Amino acid sequence: MTQLAPQATADTDIELWLAQQTEKSLLRFLTCGSVDDGKSTLIGRLLYDSQLILDDQLASLKKESHNRHVGDEGIDFSLLVDGLVAEREQGITIDVAYRFFSTDKRKFIVADTPGHEQYTRNMATGASNADLALLLIDARKGILTQTKRHSFILSLIGVKHVVLVVNKIDLVGYDKATFEAIEAEYRQFARDLGFESFKAIPVSALKGDNIVANSPRTPWYADTPLLPYLEAIQVDKDRSEAPFRFPVQWVNRPDLDFRGFSGTVAAGTVKVGDDVLVAASKKPAKVKEIVTMDGKLDRAIAGQAVTLVLDREIDISRGDVLSHPGETPDYSNQFQAELVWMAEEPAYPGRSYLLKLGSQLVPATITDLKHRTNVNTLEKSAAKSLELNAVGTVTLATDRPVAFDPYGENGATGGFILIDRISNTTLGAGTIAFGLRRAHNLSYQAFDVNRDVRAQMKGQTPRIVWFTGLSGSGKSTVANLLEKRITAEGKHAYILDGDNVRHGLNKDLGFTDAARVENIRRVAEVARLMADAGLIVLVSFISPFKNERRMAREIAGDIDFIEAYVDTPLAVCEQRDPKGLYARARSGEIKNFTGIDSPFEAPERADITLKGADETPEQMAEALYAKIFG
Ligand code: ADX
Repeated sequence: MTQLAPQATADTDIELWLAQQTEKSLLRFLTCGSVDDGKSTLIGRLLYDSQLILDDQLASLKKESHNRHVGDEGIDFSLLVDGLVAEREQGITIDVAYRFFSTDKRKFIVADTPGHEQYTRNMATGASNADLALLLIDARKGILTQTKRHSFILSLIGVKHVVLVVNKIDLVGYDKATFEAIEAEYRQFARDLGFESFKAIPVSALKGDNIVANSPRTPWYADTPLLPYLEAIQVDKDRSEAPFRFPVQWVNRPDLDFRGFSGTVAAGTVKVGDDVLVAASKKPAKVKEIVTMDGKLDRAIAGQAVTLVLDREIDISRGDVLSHPGETPDYSNQFQAELVWMAEEPAYPGRSYLLKLGSQLVPATITDLKHRTNVNTLEKSAAKSLELNAVGTVTLATDRPVAFDPYGENGATGGFILIDRISNTTLGAGTIAFGLRRAHNLSYQAFDVNRDVRAQMKGQTPRIVWFTGLSGSGKSTVANLLEKRITAEGKHAYILDGDNVRHGLNKDLGFTDAARVENIRRVAEVARLMADAGLIVLVSFISPFKNERRMAREIAGDIDFIEAYVDTPLAVCEQRDPKGLYARARSGEIKNFTGIDSPFEAPERADITLKGADETPEQMAEALYAKIFG
């Protein structure tokens, strides 16, 4: 019943087979569980039973399986899979292996993710896109904490269909009661996780029980065996029946006569003649043509890459989302989401990231970290940051509104990733719970007296001079001299100093990384307001992170921003130790001290670098003055 290409006798047979392959529906699934649960054996068994293993591979497997734990075929199936583990461990950060196989009914893509405790992020990666998950249980051990954690992540990522594979049923003597107890316990646990379908199947991956056919050794299980179940389950109807979503990937304009919008239908179905609407501008149009590489179509469904030609010229660019009127996506710049953090560097509220949602890419900030969820117990607790593999409920604010759907309603337009703005690496993945209405009830007020008027009255150009450097590097000393010099010229300046601002506005903040991110965000906003009032603002904060210095520059917007790095070696700062803090940090009395046990990320391209060990404060202030006003 399961077969790969039949021996082709003529070209036509091959073509027929290829055609069947493309017409067959595709099921993407992932396997969760550890090697101990028999995961590798199960995947190996599925590959074997769908005859995907070549004969010479089989011969060598039989040889290698010698002395190992083998099934009736004399093969340790896990060798098939484990052989690949080493390969994929090389230099791949997100460790997911994909395997393909097909039967005469369906094509399959299996995402195999390591089951180790720490690998929440791998699982989340494997689970995105998956239609179904196989949750592996060792019948002797029953439901473990790990099973619960995996289930929670699956529900978070929006996997709707779950098969509980109760494996090693042979090792509990094919006992019906054991199976039923496990099934009942899981059903109870998963009640609130929102899976659409759930099926428990007793199997022995090693012996092949209930994999392709019902096993005579479990006469009490007359239901569908695993592979036929995977062949038959309906999952993809959801996507083409969902509301139509078309994120525009690029505007296709080969010549003046043709203008089309290219992308992949993310959800739903579109037909020629349909009315469509641009999510951002709410501009309507009709679909005139649906063009593909192979010609024109009358309709296109989720998953198809097409170019849509509309009946009129409307402004659409990359990142825009088309939908049917009356079924439009949410369009907002704030939403609540579940976030899985996948980077060593924790997630901090207040830090700016890039959010990628379909083809939309916008700067975004976590404005609120509501709580962290313990993936083992599902308990929620307060948190100030999210560490590697942690899961949290957050509010995100984007710099511009984006089109999206709650993940539960439309997976294709409800999932996003967060990207580091400097290194461009993926840091986290999330699913949108619901939109928040900030976009609709907040607007900017324009006043008649503006920055230009105020600046003119003061006879100066407002500026932000942003000092960065270690404690004791000389920032405040230089800022003081510079302010005196500016004031002597009859200009108006103001110093925002870390020590001072921390006594008032920021007195609720300590020195953890998360607190420093917020410290800098607030002072950057204050600096902008003060510059907007017409002042020359001198900001003297350690500001140890590249990310937030960059954010400060962005917050400044069109206000002149000068980053001045007071580059004084740690040894010199420590020797000066004007406040005696280094000594206390070294003795362990003060924790998280910059340069000692908290990092300082030196700027790579400051507007000016002042060598604090080589120059006097007067020389530095003079050089800076020349840089600003010269
Ligand atoms: S920042 O890192 O968040 O930018 P900020 O400039 O506001 O720091 O405050 C730094 C000042 O706080 C230092 O000059 C020092 O006087 C004092 N301080 C107290 N504890 C620490 C600490 N753990 N790390 C750095 N500075 C500290």
